[in-house]
Amino acid sequence: MPIEFAERIRRIPVYPVAGGYDLGEDIAMLASNESCFAPLGAVVEAAQRVIAGGNRYPDPSYSVLRGALADRYGLQPDRIALGNGSCDILLAAGEALLEPGAEVVYAWPSFSVYPHLAAASGARAIEVPLDADDRHDLDAIASEITVATRLVLICNPNNPTSTAIGLEQVERFLDGVSPNVCVILDEAYAEFSLALGDPYASIELLRRHPNLVLLRTFSKVYGLAGLRVGYALCGSVDFRVAVDQVRQPFYLGIAAQAAALEALRHQDEVERRVERTIALRLALEETVRGLGVWVAESDANFIWLHLPEEAVEEDVVRGLAERRVLVRAGGSLGRDGALRVTVGTEGENERFVGALAELL
Ligand SMILES: Cc1ncc(COP(=O)(O)O)c(C=O)c1O
Repeated sequence: MPIEFAERIRRIPVYPVAGGYDLGEDIAMLASNESCFAPLGAVVEAAQRVIAGGNRYPDPSYSVLRGALADRYGLQPDRIALGNGSCDILLAAGEALLEPGAEVVYAWPSFSVYPHLAAASGARAIEVPLDADDRHDLDAIASEITVATRLVLICNPNNPTSTAIGLEQVERFLDGVSPNVCVILDEAYAEFSLALGDPYASIELLRRHPNLVLLRTFSKVYGLAGLRVGYALCGSVDFRVAVDQVRQPFYLGIAAQAAALEALRHQDEVERRVERTIALRLALEETVRGLGVWVAESDANFIWLHLPEEAVEEDVVRGLAERRVLVRAGGSLGRDGALRVTVGTEGENERFVGALAELL
């Protein structure tokens, strides 16, 4: 007789993971919105140094890293939640907030992990279509909030469509949300946004909205996706306490903590890399548009394009992989006939554009 699993195991969607990690060196990995820049030497050294003390568990209060983030953002350390990637905080939020009878509201297509939260908890997921420009429709989202709503997720800039909405819209939306409903503003890509201007302006909103949580990560701008460090800036201590309550105490290893801490000390270089990524993105968008393909106005480190009608998404993705370029098919992310392509190095972007031109 097979093992009998919990009912929710049948409900939880399988996350559309990227393949290609076994394909060797010469492959343009443009499928997971990682940074194309390797971690800084000082960051690697900081992680290596602490491994010598690996016989000890990490400090379960993560006081040094939380303190550094608290200083950087001007918040008390007890309002900083950390996680094994920001996904860890998202899943913990689902566990802490949702249950059968509760509702979670988010736009769709959006980040592939969001549907997992409802499926794992037995809550109802309300997926609100993006508007005609592939942007969040906050009025439509607001109209779906009911007494059963516990959590609203706003991804800004949105993954997979790369689009951002202005902070004044978010502010107006928050003013209309009841304070007992938690709103997570997922800002994994905020630093890459030109539309948002100051990527830290949202922090001000925390002062007026204790139900707001800003979700951020070291995976994108800091280029530490493989180390797994995410954080949340919380409008209230309660959220941080609740997400810590549902997890094991040691969710963040010592090397990851040391790397993140060191990365924070090199903000100038991090910002230079962000600027370089934006320049590469603008060039990539322009070249792809030059092929006659519709590309969304990207505010992230990836682009989102709609394939011409005659193109078959599967064939294009396969053809790109045969040319050693891995991208993400829109179909696996909620929209057929689209592609999500991470901004790579100049060479990787050229390889992608050359291969796409051949295939179209
Ligand atoms: C919108 C969004 N939020 C959160 C994450 C999670 O990032 P991590 O768990 O690496 O911090 C991602 C990763 O791609 C993302 O696209």
